[in-house]
Amino acid sequence: MDRDQTGGTPREQRPSAAKGGARRIRVAIAGVSGRMGREVLAAVQAEPDLTLVGAVSRRFAGTGGGLAAGSALEADLRSRGVATFADTKRCLEATSPDVLVEFTSSAASPGLILAALEGGVRPVSGTTGMPPERLLEIGALAEAKRLGAVVIPNFSVGATVLRILARTAAPFFGACEVVELHHDQKRDAPSGTALALAEVVGPRLRRTPPLPVPALPAQGAPGSDPRGLAVAGVPVHSVRLPGLVAHHELIFGATDETLTLRHDSLSRVSFMPGVLLAVRAVMRLSGLVTSLEDLLADHPDGPSGARRTP
Ligand SMILES: NC(=O)c1ccc[n+]([C@@H]2O[C@H](COP(=O)([O-])OP(=O)(O)OC[C@H]3O[C@@H](n4cnc5c(N)ncnc54)[C@H](OP(=O)(O)O)[C@@H]3O)[C@@H](O)[C@H]2O)c1
Repeated sequence: MDRDQTGGTPREQRPSAAKGGARRIRVAIAGVSGRMGREVLAAVQAEPDLTLVGAVSRRFAGTGGGLAAGSALEADLRSRGVATFADTKRCLEATSPDVLVEFTSSAASPGLILAALEGGVRPVSGTTGMPPERLLEIGALAEAKRLGAVVIPNFSVGATVLRILARTAAPFFGACEVVELHHDQKRDAPSGTALALAEVVGPRLRRTPPLPVPALPAQGAPGSDPRGLAVAGVPVHSVRLPGLVAHHELIFGATDETLTLRHDSLSRVSFMPGVLLAVRAVMRLSGLVTSLEDLLADHPDGPSGARRTP
């Protein structure tokens, strides 16, 4: 159940049967001038089965505005025949994409995802910091519209495997701490991935005989503590430094031994295989998926797919 942030079961979130068809998938990108948006732009443009039909940045003058291109990026997009917009809803109405990929801000993201679904467009969102109640709203609308929706706070395949390994290791240890390290521009802390790791590990730790668990403030409690934020009884520590990208470490402790599991995203390119997988998968989904693990399990190269291969 830990793969499901919405309260539904993984079965309910599993992709439905593929509808087939070799038509190119029409993609629009919101937040295209951002760090992730630019990577998604390059990744989508390199894929022969994907067509970029629209790109959104609030800095763009917009193709329909009759104004000169607002930036070098906008001029480049226009020269490639990509329609540019300053507003996502206008982009959706004008280009009717199959999929909207959005990496924006936690304030903007829920509204963009809901607008996409309302317009019959499947959202693929990587923006972090989504409140759980908005996720429930998105899941309900995706179900009602019978459309796929993907909201995944970490598109890295390696980070997904880290989660699987953490789940496997936890029952063998009585204590664990999580350290997450990110670039200094990341706004939210702890990272959504670190919270999810703690929630996976905490309930599975072998706490008998009871270990002296340090007294920490509960999640959301006022004030901070140098021993970290307690999430499911697991201390989570956050580091923000220039030079870092995205790194997660779990340290398990037992009698006279430790086990360290660590994943490093060395550049934002590391998220692109997961994003591209989601763009293709969302076309055959019905309902919301919030974990890359579910998409990988259904993929020909993923764990269950590998078992299906003769
Ligand atoms: N899921 C993953 O695997 C993954 C990996 C890395 C990062 N992330 C997350 O992705 C998000 C974006 O990260 P980033 O590093 O690309 O940030 P960024 O460089 O600041 O880019 C965000 C872009 O979003 C647009 N934006 C911001 N507020 C907006 C609003 N209210 N309405 C419309 N557009 C808005 C901005 O574009 P304009 O100002 O040009 O409109 C900006 O370029 C963050 O939440 C980050 O934590 C997720």
